[in-house]
Amino acid sequence: QRTQVGIVGAGPAGLLLARLLKTYGIDSVILEARSRAYVEARVRAGVLEQGTVGLLEQAGVAERLHREGLVHEGVELAVDGRRFRIDLAGLSGKAVTVYGQSEVTRDLIAARLAGDGPIVWEAADVELHDLESDRPRLRYSLDGVEHELACDFIAGCDGFHGASRASIPPAAGRSFERAYPFGWLGILADVPPCSDELIYASHPRGFALASMRSRTRSRYYIQCSLDEKIEEWPDDRIWDELKKRFGPEVAPHITTGPALEKSITALHSFVFLPMQHGRLFLAGDAAHIVPPTGAKGLNLAASDIHYLSRALEAHYRRNDPTLLAAYGETAAARVWKAERFSWWLTLAMHKLHPEHSFEAGMQRAEIDYLASSRAAQTVFAENYVGLPF
Ligand code: FAD
Ligand code: DHB
Repeated sequence: QRTQVGIVGAGPAGLLLARLLKTYGIDSVILEARSRAYVEARVRAGVLEQGTVGLLEQAGVAERLHREGLVHEGVELAVDGRRFRIDLAGLSGKAVTVYGQSEVTRDLIAARLAGDGPIVWEAADVELHDLESDRPRLRYSLDGVEHELACDFIAGCDGFHGASRASIPPAAGRSFERAYPFGWLGILADVPPCSDELIYASHPRGFALASMRSRTRSRYYIQCSLDEKIEEWPDDRIWDELKKRFGPEVAPHITTGPALEKSITALHSFVFLPMQHGRLFLAGDAAHIVPPTGAKGLNLAASDIHYLSRALEAHYRRNDPTLLAAYGETAAARVWKAERFSWWLTLAMHKLHPEHSFEAGMQRAEIDYLASSRAAQTVFAENYVGLPF
């Protein structure tokens, strides 16, 4: 078995890469550890930058997105009950689109399976070999039978816990990390959202976020401590806590209902460099993690794929190896800027310090400045809608 590009992982990064490569006439095989049903049901991000939407258009999978996605031209911040709006469109000339990651994934899987090429579901024990040669190989087993796939290149799109990054010899790479002493508890429910736009709330009880998937489906998050268990949070307790953190102006608009999904996520910042090793190219969560506050995780996976797909196109169609050689550096430069925004917004908005500490004063000043300065809001807007590729 052989292919041009072997792709490990059928998350947004791997699927988008496969689709874009197909538009350039480049063949690929995707190996995915999980089942299709599992991948399509995974609840994750919900906010797409304009650049991500552009890539999905280029990939020919944006029809349902444009029909069902909600275009948001602003976001709200609520600090200790005081609300202000950041006019994303007015300040940056761009908007974001609310459309769930699971919908993006479903659209990409449908396009792939309509004739682009194979996705090997439930591929077990994926191993990467000969990365430093010009004929790297992927080995995997399927229903107990071993298979081997010879490739020109391998794209490591298998997320934070995947096999790709782990195949790079320790001496050939370096990780940069930051952990945060709290998590996010997320709830998804079929109730109308409490507001037309997202609300990021900072409150003495902790951070909260009101988001949505559609006009009838809401997604909320609250800051929680890392040792809490989801069993300690019956639905009613989550709704009560959300109402407290959003305050008396917003609380009456929160419609409650049974949870479709509930989970706790730890918050991390992580960057692995270089993002390439021999003929292996890392993209998305395989190479970096951001805390979710800035809504950047999925969008960063998409921007990596923008650079990687163009570089492979230059290699195959124009015999130009320069973009591929520079991929790691080109992608990482944008990654660090999204890391910075996500880290800054996380530290600014979460309850981290005793109320009367210097650090709490700095947090308050940070948000007060954002509330009152057009220049600060422009910086926020430019980053939130996504820096140019
Ligand atoms: P993934 O989506 O992780 O896809 C990797 C794929 O590789 C998976 O399908 C996995 O099954 C597969 N895989 C793993 N190991 C192997 C292997 N050894 N062999 C073969 N296949 C393998 N971002 C936001 O912006 N907002 C959010 O609210 C948000 N919430 C999140 C909640 C959770 C629980 C997680 C984990 C992430 C969240 N993110 C969020 C981040 C965002 O979802 C990711 O940045 C995005 O999914 C990255 O896409 P990816 O394709 O790089 O990786
Ligand atoms: C969502 C998640 C985020 O991390 C964010 O900043 C905005 C929205 C969401 O899941 O809807």
